[in-house]
Amino acid sequence: MRMPAVRFDRALNSVRNVPMTKAILLAGGAGTRLFPLTTIVCKQLLPVYDKPMICYPLATLMLGGLREILIISTPKDLPMLREFLGDGSRFGIELKYAEQPKPEGIAQAFLIGAKFVGGAGVSLILGDNIFYGKLDFYREALALKQGACIFGYQVRDPQRYGVVEFDRDGKAISLEEKPKHPRSQFAVPGLYIFDDRVVEFCRELKPSARGEIEITDLNLQYLKRGELRVKQLGRGIAWLDTGTPTSLLEASNYIATIEHRQGMKIACLEEIALRMGFIDARKLMALIDRLPKGEYREYLQRVVDEG
Ligand code: TTP
Repeated sequence: MRMPAVRFDRALNSVRNVPMTKAILLAGGAGTRLFPLTTIVCKQLLPVYDKPMICYPLATLMLGGLREILIISTPKDLPMLREFLGDGSRFGIELKYAEQPKPEGIAQAFLIGAKFVGGAGVSLILGDNIFYGKLDFYREALALKQGACIFGYQVRDPQRYGVVEFDRDGKAISLEEKPKHPRSQFAVPGLYIFDDRVVEFCRELKPSARGEIEITDLNLQYLKRGELRVKQLGRGIAWLDTGTPTSLLEASNYIATIEHRQGMKIACLEEIALRMGFIDARKLMALIDRLPKGEYREYLQRVVDEG
């Protein structure tokens, strides 16, 4: 006798691994290098061309299919970020918020977000990291079942970042935080994926000499167990960082150039929500009705009209 389709589906679901859905967007920090721009407004709300910076990392998470997102920021800046993004329902996602009282390290995000993470795997993105290009590398990495996955990106000035060194087979052999004498040209971008042991590993970390719980130390926990995958990002991906006035201007110019050339927006959250199937066209039209008249609204109207 043939098994009814519905029972077959259930059986499939019970063996299929649950996809990763959770992410943390870390958007605190002091923003000292951008002073006086950051005196009143936090770095992640500063414009990168035509939208606030935080839209870009949030877009990356959404394009990865992640819909449960915890935004962590300073007690001063969190209310403004919440006012801007709300509970996420207009983008068909679920946004939660938590405070980081002091910028005591990127890995502290997992201690602050321990309850949110629960027993699940989680991805982390920094609020000032912009990725542009085909994001398949990220989607593939999110299929991770065990261990951690980070990325390596060739830059001219690796000493500003965590630096990863590879052996001849492309296997990561060392990781150092802001080394004076980098062993490679490969920086580690602010986009990470960890399995369900991340909170436990973070609890074992001691603050570094600069008083921070270092993301590099967390990555080393996985590296020493042979469970850290480091994927090299090719030159087809743009990774921009926006921590200094010059890099902020360069990022704005980059986004403006592509948007003008293609007539399409980068990191337009409403559009991404539609294209990812998080909201339908009817909901987007209702959102458009509430937007002020202008170029952004016209763009979204075009997205709906052109299907
Ligand atoms: P950084 O660029 O290291 O720090 P910053 O943003 O405070 O800037 P500056 O160095 O000019 O003072 O941080 C990278 C990202 O990580 C940025 O989005 C802020 C965030 N961050 C936190 O939210 N909390 C932290 O404890 C740290 C270290 C960073």
